[in-house]
Amino acid sequence: MNRVVVTGGAGFIGSGLVRALLADGVKHVAVVDNLLSGKEENLTEVRDRIEFHNADIRDHAAMRKIFEGTDVVFHLAAIPSVPRSIQDPLPSHDVNINGTFTVLSAASDAKVRRVVYAASSSAYGDTLVLPKVETMLPKPKSPYALQKLAGEYYGSVFHSCFGLEFVALRFFNVFGPRQDPSSAYSGVLSLFMKCLIERKAPVIFGDGEQSRDFTYVDDVASLVIKAAKAKGVEGNVYNAGNGNRYTLNFIWSQLQAIEGVDIPPTFGPPREGDVRDSQADTALAIKELGHDPKFPIDKALKLTLDWYKKSISA
Ligand code: UD1
Repeated sequence: MNRVVVTGGAGFIGSGLVRALLADGVKHVAVVDNLLSGKEENLTEVRDRIEFHNADIRDHAAMRKIFEGTDVVFHLAAIPSVPRSIQDPLPSHDVNINGTFTVLSAASDAKVRRVVYAASSSAYGDTLVLPKVETMLPKPKSPYALQKLAGEYYGSVFHSCFGLEFVALRFFNVFGPRQDPSSAYSGVLSLFMKCLIERKAPVIFGDGEQSRDFTYVDDVASLVIKAAKAKGVEGNVYNAGNGNRYTLNFIWSQLQAIEGVDIPPTFGPPREGDVRDSQADTALAIKELGHDPKFPIDKALKLTLDWYKKSISA
């Protein structure tokens, strides 16, 4: 890979991917981000080694120009959050579906070799069987889940109709340093970290026995790079998870144990559109992409908490 573009590269996962790409020796890394939820400060220490474009993924002409001479586009830009897509479906529909279409179409026009797409585990919805395997029929329960699934389908059609190489990775509840805890729509682990440091009770929606395959951001970034390089995988969809699942109650108890505190959570009503359990079957990603997660939950929670402690006190 000589030149790559990361859409959403100023976001939490995107900026982790940018750092991983540079560490992997990629010479030319360009970032596209409109800074709606991304932050330039996520890229501070690599800023002089990348090309930054404050641009909107719905702008075909801008994307076409930026994608010129690019080998791989990593398409991560999105408006995330299941509850946000229920409360305000139009913006997430526009960015996640029309924006993804525009990225695919501009990439195809600019003769980009491959697009690697950040799909979502939410596409599965509630399944009778765990772990969730790529051959299961998707059953999205929220606009966000459906939008992310539509992006997968669009990508595979760009592959079959226009020859654009496309690989989709279904991210499973990614967490780690730089995840923004400042919004009600923030990922639950970033909110837990903030509560723990501030010695406040987190709000848990439902009974806390819902489970997630929490996956550390560096493991996701490594897998995304493997998906860009792998041969014979074009048009395919892979789970990008750790392969385990933990309940919210368990995670909060682990965090309390690390800090030696006793802060009972506040329980609220279950959240609309919530999936009950989520766990990735990682066999296909291991076999075909060489997936090799290196951060079990205890290690990943400690690394993440250390980062929040430094960033909140800074
Ligand atoms: C979903 C997707 C995930 C995607 C993410 C994007 C699933 C299984 N996962 O994550 O792949 O990347 O959307 O936004 O669909 N919660 C609390 N208290 C809080 C906040 C959240 O109890 O203050 C609960 C939620 O109700 C949910 C769990 O924590 O049960 C995780 O929520 P969240 O971090 O928002 O992620 P998902 O919606 O699971």
